[in-house]
Amino acid sequence: MALWAGRFKKEINEDVNAFNSSISFDARMYKHDIMGSKAHAKMLCKQGIIDENNLNEILTGLDEILADLESGELLFDPNAEDIHMFIESELTKKYPISGKKLHTARSRNDQVALDLRLYTRDEIKEIRQMLIDIIEVIMDQASKHTETIMCGYTHLQRAQPITFGHHLMAYAQMFYRDITRLDDCFDRMNVSPLGSGALATTTYPIDRYYVAQQLDMKDICHNSLDGVSDRDYAIELANDLALIMTHLSRFSEEMILWCSWEYKYIELDDAYATGSSIMPQKKNPDIAELVRGKTARVIGDNNALLTMMKGLPLAYNKDMQEDKEALFDAIDTVKLCLPVFTDMLRTMKVYPKKMREFAAKGFINATDCADYLVKHGKAFRDAYKTVGQLVAYCIDHDEVLETLSLDVYKSYDETFEESVYEAISLDTCVKNRLVDGGPSPEAVKKSIQLMKDQLEVLK
Ligand code: ARG
Repeated sequence: MALWAGRFKKEINEDVNAFNSSISFDARMYKHDIMGSKAHAKMLCKQGIIDENNLNEILTGLDEILADLESGELLFDPNAEDIHMFIESELTKKYPISGKKLHTARSRNDQVALDLRLYTRDEIKEIRQMLIDIIEVIMDQASKHTETIMCGYTHLQRAQPITFGHHLMAYAQMFYRDITRLDDCFDRMNVSPLGSGALATTTYPIDRYYVAQQLDMKDICHNSLDGVSDRDYAIELANDLALIMTHLSRFSEEMILWCSWEYKYIELDDAYATGSSIMPQKKNPDIAELVRGKTARVIGDNNALLTMMKGLPLAYNKDMQEDKEALFDAIDTVKLCLPVFTDMLRTMKVYPKKMREFAAKGFINATDCADYLVKHGKAFRDAYKTVGQLVAYCIDHDEVLETLSLDVYKSYDETFEESVYEAISLDTCVKNRLVDGGPSPEAVKKSIQLMKDQLEVLK
């Protein structure tokens, strides 16, 4: 018999019960449901709505249920409507009189709104730590490669010389922003909807602030209709998670390119790559590809949440039960991807020689060659044109800027002197990019230190 069976003359149809039930996926919020119920019960007692004996039985019963669920002694009932009904009915089995009083001045609508906030709050803390871990691995790798010259690309065309450390640190910036986004989300999420009731609060003299305080929440939701039907925090989190995945996916794409024979900038550790069932020579970057692939589901989860909410009238509607699977999937996927990607990064081998070899072709010092003329009095547009002609000459004669004779240089512009060779050497080009946020070894070391300091503040 359902807890709400009073006005019904028939048992619920079995298929409808299964269709309606959310316990298969909301069971994971059992700890938070118990935590919320304990805070609610304490408040009911403080306000004189239930007595001390009721409170003690409720607290004892809930603690026992928690212990039994964790030890495996108590199993979730797949026929229960949801985790809230399941725990309440287990409590009532243990302490019939007190158990039946727990739901006074509460509805499942404010209960589930609270549970989901408490649950996601914990998940945010875990994901946040995973982001700190990946940034630390990136900083480690970047510190080893502050001097490793590679070519930077735009349009995937060789563009200007940078360092591998600089390239890696770009991702540290992205993941750092992801942490701050999660923190913002946490802050807005960390308010208590409990006391909103089904939609219109209650006539009992409850103390909503006391409940919020018990649960370490900074405030209460100040409109009961909004309290039970706001899922902004879930959407915001899903969006933050989709962004984390998008960052991981771009990184994956680069890793996949870099470990191809066409680049061979890096090699994955054998433990973090896979073979082929038919081609004996293959070593595939499956992890990176899967991360890139799984990004699609998290983006989908985010879309599902937005679409589910967009047409809902106030206040609670059952559609909102669909928030959980999408959000849980996004959380699970990020938690699955981040650590394995981090380890893949930690164990990869880097081939600086190969990076250097590529950097030597593709005229990535052409801008510096033009800048040389500018520093010797030419206007940038004229210098740009001259160097463009020099590059065309190189292509026709199978040369690079470094191998051209000074006579050829001078035939295009008399300003060129012997010093041009020093000015266009890749080492000089990189070393002289001393601007903050740039690729020079000095600037990269500085940015790593800055990131370390920023992380300390966040820890
Ligand atoms: N399982 C429901 C959910 O996840 C709990 C709230 C149910 N409320 C209700 N009035 N049926 O949304």
